[in-house]
Amino acid sequence: MATNGASTNGNTYTGKPSRKFDPTFTQRVIDATGPKATPRIRQVIGSAIQHIHDWARENEITVDEWMAGVDIINQAGQMSNEKRNEGQLVCDVLGLESLVDEITYKLATDAKDQPTATAILGPFYRHDAPKRAMGDTIVFGIDNGDDALMFGQVTDFKTGKPIEGAVLDVWHTAPNGLYEQQDPDQPDFNLRGRFETGPDGKYNFYCLRPTSYPIPFDGPAGKLLQLLDRHPFRPAHIHFILSAPGYKPIVTQIFDRRDKYITNDSVFAVKDDLIVDFVPRKGDPKAQYELQYDFRLASYDDAVDAKL
Ligand code: DHB
Ligand code: FE
Repeated sequence: MATNGASTNGNTYTGKPSRKFDPTFTQRVIDATGPKATPRIRQVIGSAIQHIHDWARENEITVDEWMAGVDIINQAGQMSNEKRNEGQLVCDVLGLESLVDEITYKLATDAKDQPTATAILGPFYRHDAPKRAMGDTIVFGIDNGDDALMFGQVTDFKTGKPIEGAVLDVWHTAPNGLYEQQDPDQPDFNLRGRFETGPDGKYNFYCLRPTSYPIPFDGPAGKLLQLLDRHPFRPAHIHFILSAPGYKPIVTQIFDRRDKYITNDSVFAVKDDLIVDFVPRKGDPKAQYELQYDFRLASYDDAVDAKL
């Protein structure tokens, strides 16, 4: 292990690069990049090499520690399949997906009136969820959940006009904390659906008031959480992708304000604008709760104006 006090303890790390090691090495690796590399590749990979070398020097990473990291990457790859994206989970517990989401969103909009805030996709999206009629339910074969009606309107964030033909693609977990593809007891595409707005831009469907649950922690992401002395829970949330012809799609989630993990999401995805209040619903045998949430999209023209 390192003998230099500043580098043995992450909490007291000073950020000063060590002078102990070959000072020309990193530049030589970066300079090996050939002339056909694109400018973006040259920039992004060159910078990654610089940072990862600095990190290794500053922390005096040993061969054993590096190999433990390689094992995590390999195990994540071996565990991944069409139902499980462990590489993404590892990034998520490190906050990387939430950070790139923030960067992407900040690049897209600097205006005061903003489109709906984005949030990470997460590893459980499935393409081609069934198209359902407005007012339908996405809940099948579940009797231990709190039913909720979710409704609202999809509008153009600049003009405020309703957007016709907007598709709201929604997914959330069952009360046991599992998405349907993780759970052989749920019907295929349970708790998922796509709803298309009419001329008034409005939508409504029945779902469940969601519950908090742990991200899968039986693999490398769980191991990392354990090493970092962190819990695996996400606050109750519902995922959405909003898309409409001529508009930039939005990937987002809404979060239940009353959830105990609302300030402590294991993957750091909560944003203030996305925190919602489910309220009791009266006189509807199909739902005890309701939630209104309006989505604001930016047209591609406005997105281009904003230097996307
Ligand atoms: C993650 C995100 C989710 O929405 C989820 O349900 C589980 C895990 C994640 O970011 O890793
Ligand atoms: Fe989720």
